Amino acid sequence: MFDSGVGGTSIWKEVRKRLPYEDTIFLADSKNAPYGEKSEVEIRELSIKNTELLLEQKCKLIIVACNTATTNAIDYLRKTYRVPFIGIEPAIKPAALQSTSKTVGILATKGTLSSSLFHSTAENYAAGIQIVEQEGTGLVPLIEAGQVDSEETRTLLKRYLAPMIKANIDYLVLGCTHYPYLVPTLRSLLPKQVKIIDSGAAVAKQTEAVLEKNNALKAARKKGLSTFFTNHKVETLASFLTDSEPTEIAYLNF
Ligand code: DGL
Repeated sequence: MFDSGVGGTSIWKEVRKRLPYEDTIFLADSKNAPYGEKSEVEIRELSIKNTELLLEQKCKLIIVACNTATTNAIDYLRKTYRVPFIGIEPAIKPAALQSTSKTVGILATKGTLSSSLFHSTAENYAAGIQIVEQEGTGLVPLIEAGQVDSEETRTLLKRYLAPMIKANIDYLVLGCTHYPYLVPTLRSLLPKQVKIIDSGAAVAKQTEAVLEKNNALKAARKKGLSTFFTNHKVETLASFLTDSEPTEIAYLNF
């Protein structure tokens, strides 16, 4: 799987929980983060680079562990490569279905919120629901720097949440795989009744379903290898994996 940086490890953890015997390779393209501020063409080029590196490693399936890359590049990737791709999109549908205030907040990158895939999902699944959209500008670089609860992060989040709280949201959708690391801080800033949802567990479930359908699940009941590559700081990536016992975390120039 790949992400623009460390955030996709939140997805890797869900996949690991569900599919512990699979070998995994994770690419953290932190050198090029944030993707969310880049153009669609740039995001697609970076997604191609990551995909080709994973294919060289003989991956049988690729998880695009990044909402921004999914919403901007997955159609192209699916058309271009034969390997199955699993993408991640903001969990607008479950939030819209469960919302009683009929008002849902979404925090995501500019790249995701401006994509046509996001807009069609919102139109198809959230009719009659008010969606309060907020770009999380500045959050990904802070998380990449390990600042999940710094003063600066809290100040930004307070600003981003204010219009949502005012609009009486009862669900906050995290539309970026970096943001699950902000949950403790978000919890401390949101009213108690607001539920926070992300798409990590759904991605793991879908990954299992596709592997099963393709008869590609590993038969051996042995813990899978988990290799992580970053093209930036190994220590930062490692700090997001302290609870995970990875097999290897290494620097790779990609
Ligand atoms: N983890 C990426 C996502 O899910 C972050 C995008 C970025 O690098 O801006 O959208």
